[in-house]
Amino acid sequence: MATRKTTTTRKTATRSARGTKTTPRAKVKVASARARAAAPTTMLAAAIDKFGPPSAIRTHEIPIPALGPTDVLIALRAADIGSWDAKIRDGSWANKPARFPLVLGTDGAGVVEKVGTGVRRFDVGDEVWAFSYQNPKGGFYGEYVVVDSDNVGRVPKGLGMLEAGTSGAAALTAQQGVDDILALKKGETVLIVGASGAVGTLAIQFAKRHGVRVIATASGRDATKLVRELGADEVIDARRADAVDKLRKLTPKGLDAAFALASGPSIERLLGLVRAGGRIAYPNGVEPPPRKRAKVEVTSFDGTASRKALDKLDRAVTEAKLRVPIEKTYPLARAAEAHERLEEGHVLGHLALRIRGPGRRAA
Ligand SMILES: NC(=O)c1ccc[n+]([C@@H]2O[C@H](COP(=O)([O-])OP(=O)(O)OC[C@H]3O[C@@H](n4cnc5c(N)ncnc54)[C@H](OP(=O)(O)O)[C@@H]3O)[C@@H](O)[C@H]2O)c1
Repeated sequence: MATRKTTTTRKTATRSARGTKTTPRAKVKVASARARAAAPTTMLAAAIDKFGPPSAIRTHEIPIPALGPTDVLIALRAADIGSWDAKIRDGSWANKPARFPLVLGTDGAGVVEKVGTGVRRFDVGDEVWAFSYQNPKGGFYGEYVVVDSDNVGRVPKGLGMLEAGTSGAAALTAQQGVDDILALKKGETVLIVGASGAVGTLAIQFAKRHGVRVIATASGRDATKLVRELGADEVIDARRADAVDKLRKLTPKGLDAAFALASGPSIERLLGLVRAGGRIAYPNGVEPPPRKRAKVEVTSFDGTASRKALDKLDRAVTEAKLRVPIEKTYPLARAAEAHERLEEGHVLGHLALRIRGPGRRAA
């Protein structure tokens, strides 16, 4: 098992050594720092030793990465099983040459355990979420993650730890697509393609706060019900032969905008109904990329984390009273099963990893 070392924070240790008067908040922090006096140096993480199928994911005990001056050490409570994680796991999108064991996961939420010497915005005990694609200090399927503080924000009010843990990357992507790239305006009609997935379920809600009419694509009763509950005004099944006719009837003057979270020949036909002067946005990773069209602005982008982006997202989450639908939650030790579910497809909303943390592993 892990060897242990003291990680009492510089701030709390200095205060108690000097006998300085403490605020109630500071007292709580001193107490929690004492309780953590023997913090672990290793952690459990779901990682791969080589690219492969879901069964390549195994639980490893690995060192907790070193904290740099601008980093935050987060004791994770939940992590996202992103649709893109499957492509990292099987090698199609991973950094090459990869360093194994490779801990998967691009985003999650938890409690700040320690901050780097240059970090002023966060303190031990803060509840935070974070997103870092190809995080240089390892992924989020673990008991801890070390991440640059610019990629970290406080968990927005109204979101639980599990909801925040599974939605950071998707929420940034959805909000930036809707607000920054499409810049939806009141009264417009937007088509959200792939609305029942991780990004789509959040994009519907961010779009609705602009007073737009949302037409969602979704397949099957369960997905149709979900997207309607989240605010879609109309729903069509992009896989059905009559989808284009239905969409044309719904928007005789054409769509003002479309957010494409899936692609393919039938979807191209739907995107053909975006009017001249309209906009199409899609995040990189949608394959094949939607094709360019005359008189329509087609923009690809990446969801990105920064202080400013996370502050903006925080406000958007509140405005939208964001709901994060979670189809299923898996314990860290069963991350491979979560990836098997990913491979089956038709995930409604999100899949989450629940992480207990050292000392709480049996809980
Ligand atoms: N670059 C970035 O920053 C970034 C960030 C996040 C996501 N992404 C990309 O954005 C895309 C969406 O991500 P996600 O996590 O939301 O994926 P997801 O949860 O798998 O959702 C995809 C959605 O697309 C639908 N869909 C897939 N193929 C379809 C088809 N042929 N016809 C109609 N609908 C179809 C699915 O519906 P069914 O369930 O009915 O199949 C589902 O609703 C992915 O390509 C991902 O890689 C990029």
